[in-house]
Amino acid sequence: MTASRRLLVSCALPYANGHLHIGHLVGYIQGDIFTRALRMAGHAVHFVCADDTHGTPIMLAAEKAGVTPEAFIAGIQASHERDFRDFHVAFDHYGSTNSASNRELTWKIYRALDAGGHIAKRSISQLYDPVKSMFLPDRYVKGDCPNCGSADQYGDNCEVCGATYAPTDLKNPRSVVSGATPELRDSEHYFFRLANFRALLEGLLDDPTFAGPGMRAKLGEWLTGELRDWDISRDAPYFGFEIPGVAGKYLYVWLDAPIGYLSAFKDYAAANPAALGGLAFDDFTDAARAPAAGTEMHHFIGKDIVNFHGLFWPAVLAGSGHRVPTSLHVNGYLTVDGAKMSKSRGTFISARSVLAQGINAEFLRYYFAAKSSGGIDDLDLNLDDFVARVNADLVGKLVNIASRAAGFVTSKFDGKLCAPPASAAEGTAFRALARGRLGAVIRAYDNRDFASVVRTAMDLSDQINQYWDQRKPWQLAKDEARRQELHEVCTHALLGFHSITVLLAPILPKLADDVARWFGVEHQAGGARRFAHVDDAPHSVKPYEHLMTRIDPKQIEALVEANKETLQPTAPPPAAKVAPAKAAPAADGPIGIEDFGKVDLRIARIVEAEAVPEADKLLRLKLDLGSEQRQVFAGIKSAYDPATLVGRLTVMVANLAPRKMRFGMSEGMVLAASDERGGPFLLAPDDGALPGMRVK
Ligand code: MSP
Ligand code: ZN
Repeated sequence: MTASRRLLVSCALPYANGHLHIGHLVGYIQGDIFTRALRMAGHAVHFVCADDTHGTPIMLAAEKAGVTPEAFIAGIQASHERDFRDFHVAFDHYGSTNSASNRELTWKIYRALDAGGHIAKRSISQLYDPVKSMFLPDRYVKGDCPNCGSADQYGDNCEVCGATYAPTDLKNPRSVVSGATPELRDSEHYFFRLANFRALLEGLLDDPTFAGPGMRAKLGEWLTGELRDWDISRDAPYFGFEIPGVAGKYLYVWLDAPIGYLSAFKDYAAANPAALGGLAFDDFTDAARAPAAGTEMHHFIGKDIVNFHGLFWPAVLAGSGHRVPTSLHVNGYLTVDGAKMSKSRGTFISARSVLAQGINAEFLRYYFAAKSSGGIDDLDLNLDDFVARVNADLVGKLVNIASRAAGFVTSKFDGKLCAPPASAAEGTAFRALARGRLGAVIRAYDNRDFASVVRTAMDLSDQINQYWDQRKPWQLAKDEARRQELHEVCTHALLGFHSITVLLAPILPKLADDVARWFGVEHQAGGARRFAHVDDAPHSVKPYEHLMTRIDPKQIEALVEANKETLQPTAPPPAAKVAPAKAAPAADGPIGIEDFGKVDLRIARIVEAEAVPEADKLLRLKLDLGSEQRQVFAGIKSAYDPATLVGRLTVMVANLAPRKMRFGMSEGMVLAASDERGGPFLLAPDDGALPGMRVK
């Protein structure tokens, strides 16, 4: 084995503004599997996380709930910690960014950045809510898109046409917080000079350990452009840390959030001095000491936060005398049944609800592992496939070995296994086979290619099941003369089963512990387990109790039902509640028929429909006009499952000038109705209309 490594591993800090959903769990489970595997390979791994507690959304959520921010985040943190525990995500330490240690470290880092000449100050104009007396973050301003005029768009980009702009460009802007019309006000802001770190970032770009190819390509794109100053200050009222020495100004949450990785680790080290194996906090975090100590720092994050971790974070670390991260492990987004998680479809599934339906937490760990190959691709939870894989593979192939062999061993041999027979010639040395795969399995864990580990485990399970079926122990059991043979077959199968559970232990830690107890080798369970146990040969088993039982598809139906929040296609936007529904004129005055005639409306058949993963509201549609096909992007994702649209007829504007969007050309527009009461509702012609017919 290579010399043992020393790693600090973290997962992205979940926001303390809501409960965990199964999308969150993807990254946490990956980080946990990685940590457990490296430990089993003999390395020293410290695994930390914390709640990310600061910022405007949390401040407003607490206010709405009628409690202090501190009380609010405490309640959410307790729920997060419970969920992690029950999904076996076992952090060594779970902290909070709203802690004394995080404030101290954040201030220390800020002061170092300031002293190093990396902070700039200047006044900027921003939208201000005069009713709420607060500056409005982009997402808290809504209005009409300055480009296409679509109503109800956020202050940073239009979900309908894809345009990006400043909140001050919005037409008819309003504050999402109070509904008031915002006004422009000046305020002094503090900026981090990212451009000072260009050389450092270019170096990371060339470092294959730092991140995978997809992520580094992204970094490369950003580096071809200007590295603009990063605004790290916010005005009061804000829930966060004040800028040292500047009353009424706060540090932006994204400055103190990643520092939470370090402060959580610092608190852990302070409370458990022996746990760092003779090293200190600084040996993992200090730019001068980390290389000598040979320590590594790994961050598990989702793909939506790579800019913070690939650009700002390494620069902030380097600018304050800290080491930069060794590796970023980036996970893609979770979809359910091929679509973005949806509250109306019941696929926005909370972590807690999975457990509440009595679904074994390890089933989700197993499925996510089987679908994680180490890349940045999105990962789909197909609910039918989930049931099939768990029932057929995990329970049907793997656990079934134990339940089949256990009966004979208990009833005929008093639970004793025979001395491991050395009949490798028969292809029965499953333990040796598992040992032979160990190197590749450990490498796969290290590369986050958990799917390949699962394939190996299933392959070994298949071999054992084939062996079992060939040797027909149920027949051997009827013949007293073949008693020894029966004992050997059961022993081979059970020892092979034991080996597979050792290989899978990082993914299925509870199963591995239960199995260790069953074999009476609990000394190898939990933190003491090593991959070296893979070809151990325990001597006996206790009477069999079910290790895992199949999922009933009804549990999945109930799960989806329990997560259905509303039957409305979309909830009305918060600020719209005040205005009673009333048809507002769309234009200034009447138009003549010639003006209307300029719009070429046509019947079109939707022949393809799919979600645009990067856009919250957009579907990509392929429309058939009879004589030709057009690609159109439509802001109807919230209301329609793409699969249900294919084949439908609708109405399109056929002579709209094509528009280049971030995701491709949009060659027209489909028509849909909406206002604060709901929508969008797609138009459909009466029976008989055919693609290409003119609408007039
Ligand atoms: N608070 C920030 C992270 C700060 S790290 C210094 C944050 N929090 S989050 O609660 O929104 O997300 C936590 C993690 O879950 C992030 O890594 C995020 O990318 C990930 N995911 C959130 N939704 C997800 C899916 N639907 N699918 C996969 N990962 C998802 O971001
Ligand atoms: Zn627009």
